[in-house]
Amino acid sequence: MNAALSYADEHFDTFVDQLEDLLSIPSVSTDSTYTDEVQRAAQWVAEHLRERGVHHAEVAETDGHPVVYAEHLTGNDKPTVLVYGHYDVQPPDPLDEWDTPPFDPTRRNDTLYARGACDDKGQMFMHLKALESYLESDGEPPVNLKFVIEGEEEIGSEHLAPFLRAHRDRLDADVVLISDTSMFSEDVPSITYGLRGLAYAEVTLQGPNRDLHSGVYGGAVENPANALAALIADLHDDEHRITIPGFYDNVRPLTDAERETYAELPFDEDAWADAVGVEAVRTEGGYSVLECLSARPTLDVNGIWGGYTGEGAKTVLPAKASAKISMRLVPEQTPTEIYDKLEAHLDAQVPDTMTMTFRRLHGGRPVLVDRTSPAMQAAQTAMGEVMGTEPTFVRHGGSIPIVADFKDLLGLDSVLMGFGLDTDAIHSPNEHFGLDRFRAGIQSIIRFHQHYAAA
Ligand code: BES
Ligand code: MN
Ligand code: MN
Repeated sequence: MNAALSYADEHFDTFVDQLEDLLSIPSVSTDSTYTDEVQRAAQWVAEHLRERGVHHAEVAETDGHPVVYAEHLTGNDKPTVLVYGHYDVQPPDPLDEWDTPPFDPTRRNDTLYARGACDDKGQMFMHLKALESYLESDGEPPVNLKFVIEGEEEIGSEHLAPFLRAHRDRLDADVVLISDTSMFSEDVPSITYGLRGLAYAEVTLQGPNRDLHSGVYGGAVENPANALAALIADLHDDEHRITIPGFYDNVRPLTDAERETYAELPFDEDAWADAVGVEAVRTEGGYSVLECLSARPTLDVNGIWGGYTGEGAKTVLPAKASAKISMRLVPEQTPTEIYDKLEAHLDAQVPDTMTMTFRRLHGGRPVLVDRTSPAMQAAQTAMGEVMGTEPTFVRHGGSIPIVADFKDLLGLDSVLMGFGLDTDAIHSPNEHFGLDRFRAGIQSIIRFHQHYAAA
């Protein structure tokens, strides 16, 4: 292990150069104009693994973007770690808010700026470099390794569950290791033991058969934009609780021990509000900011439109209005249950002068993983050695839908050992990844394999 750690140290600059190469491929999964680039990124990852001497690496086609699958198996007596990550990225817009172009990776102040630098190319790449460090020094890693690197995480991983089902036997492993999350803060390293799920819907209200003159018709034709706004306004009460009947029925309450852990985390509410530019926080009654960010479900409008939204004024009564509404879920809520409840609730309130269409865009189940497993202990030890502080366990508000499928389809627990920070601007302009954390990630992964093999 020491030789692998030294190798990683000595070759760190090369690692960063290679990562820049991968980051320059605009593998935006949601936009079909980038389909070839997504394919190119998959080929790049597979080729990179092959060049390092991994036993097997392939680009497996799916009905969507391909999955990179690789294996390096060196002994039946060793445990098998399945590494999951994603090579697809979010769209880079708004482009004019980037200080340097999103697909022209740039180093400034020991930080690498590019779309995907943290989410997730940079973090996924740490696993390739950890394996390389073993191969080029100790000869072999102390564990068997399998890699599932997908290209559709940012659009809901639709074709990955079928891939897991189809390759169940081949994917047999002891644990899944994932670096696609953030730490609590730079000073408080952490391992994530819970992620929220997601139910994302698009709602449209259709009123009259065409846009109308608001002076000629306004007053006797009910306005879908007005109606949609009223429906949405009614989805929260004064305590900022969600009003959908039964919405909280399956929410597993926070335990006293969990609440204590949350309360002990160092958190400056005012500084946090200040950093996002709001006057004050707004939480669900009875819960702290940190609880609301990760252990409580939410409902948010992501976009709302209808009628005239161009420059200046146009007097128009729109024929229809739409909104994209996402709900973050916590155990034991399920996307299906929550979609059903929202749809029924809206349906019951839509004015009889209009019709509603309700589309389910994508969903994912929330997860809580066991904190006491040997793999979690190995991760805690490994990260503690590298960071100089034993990491704490935290829940996070983001979602990685496939984690629930690893459990249900393959029977595998996941270890979410991520090295991002919530301030890394993932999904935003100027996404970045601190090179110190890239380095710490590689070292922690090398150490994880060692500790897990010895467990
Ligand atoms: N890596 C993120 C999720 C994440 C970020 C978890 C930070 C914990 C800390 C992932 O790529 C992501 O963005 N997930 C999406 C869900 C997906 C279905 C679009 C999300 O959470 O919005
Ligand atoms: Mn990610
Ligand atoms: Mn993401």
